[in-house]
Amino acid sequence: MAGVANQNILLGVTGGIAAYKSVELARLLVKGGARVRVVMTEAACRFVSPLTFQAVTANPVRTQLFDEAHEAAMGHIELARWADQMIIAPASADFMARMAQGLADDLLSTLYLASTASVTVAPAMNRRMWRHPAVQHNLSLLEDRGIRILGPETGEQACGDTGIGRMSEPSEIFAALDVAAGSGLFAGRKVLITAGPTHEPFDPVRFIGNRSSGKMGFAVAQAFVREGAEVLLVSGPVQLATPAGVQRINVQTALQMREAVFDNIQAVDIFVACAAVADYRPESPRENKIKKTDDRLELNLLRNPDILAEVAALEKGPFTLGFAAETENLAENARAKLSKKKLDMLAANRVGDDLGFESDDNSLLVLWPNGEKQLPLQNKQQLAHALITLLEQQYRDAGRGD
Ligand code: PMT
Repeated sequence: MAGVANQNILLGVTGGIAAYKSVELARLLVKGGARVRVVMTEAACRFVSPLTFQAVTANPVRTQLFDEAHEAAMGHIELARWADQMIIAPASADFMARMAQGLADDLLSTLYLASTASVTVAPAMNRRMWRHPAVQHNLSLLEDRGIRILGPETGEQACGDTGIGRMSEPSEIFAALDVAAGSGLFAGRKVLITAGPTHEPFDPVRFIGNRSSGKMGFAVAQAFVREGAEVLLVSGPVQLATPAGVQRINVQTALQMREAVFDNIQAVDIFVACAAVADYRPESPRENKIKKTDDRLELNLLRNPDILAEVAALEKGPFTLGFAAETENLAENARAKLSKKKLDMLAANRVGDDLGFESDDNSLLVLWPNGEKQLPLQNKQQLAHALITLLEQQYRDAGRGD
């Protein structure tokens, strides 16, 4: 499918140092075949010159609501009608507040109110500003109106702080807009992914858990979004930002993960179980913190439900890809899991000795009923893309891709 090619994209740039990154976004959109018009707020013009955007897009840049010359060429209402998609990047805290309140005191805020195009917002601000309840309240007002929020990301900020607030990378924003316009291997498909560990409490402050960081599952989620899928990520407790365009439900325990999966599984085309779900949970978690009065402490554990096996057993269930974490006999154990759980595919990794869990790199032996492929050691983002490319072939061969 075409993606942003031939789409009319209105790029709104508001005041923030990340405005310089939006020049690259404009370039990517033009390269992708979109027609791009840029509107800048007064504050944005202090960071980047309108001329820069004009040179990249080959179109005049609008900065003023009351501009006789431009109103004669393409009036602001006409510009609002022209847009197929509107992206505000970077979106400052101030501009998000004005959107939330419906103010129309400059050209960009007026266009936002006057347009029926789908709107995406890529916030960028200092981490403390981002966490302020006023900003979070405005954010939820915008989300409730169906506005798509991309980012912000965690990392080093221009002000010297480190934390959440950086604008998503132009390539990520471009990919999300491209996908919204219907491109990618999985365009129109819904994917549910589990990721991270589960924590099984035995008193209010302690739990049984494992070393899963969520990196592999989050990379798979990001790869699917980049290929056009609508992605729901059910995540155990991890320290990772949600990839742009992914919808996320946070859970702690295996039972909560199961509930979140089964609340959403009906509408799903593909299920990927990357979570390291605890196989057992304490039978009777104590209400109060356990005191260290005895030399021995015995915990009775109960078997948790196998979420993946239950999904794979559903009549008319989704295409299922499981993972297997093995310390020995990788290929045999993995093939046994594939057939025992009646999965469509299984990605097996060796774990332990800094492999699989927590690391940035990984390798996978990917199996399906009549074949297999080894994906070599590489970073988890690249590996995830290679994995879903293989999955797409199997999905199509299974007659599910039509
Ligand atoms: O998160 P990272 O640090 O990046 O590490 C990635 C990873 C090593 C956790 C990941 O690549 C991985 O292997 N995930 C699966 C880990 C696991 O639990 O494997 P398993 O062999 O015990 O389970 C087999 C499959 O059944 C898995 O798909 C698992 O999600 C699923 N399962 C297991 C138990 C259970 N109660 N419910 C399940 O759904």
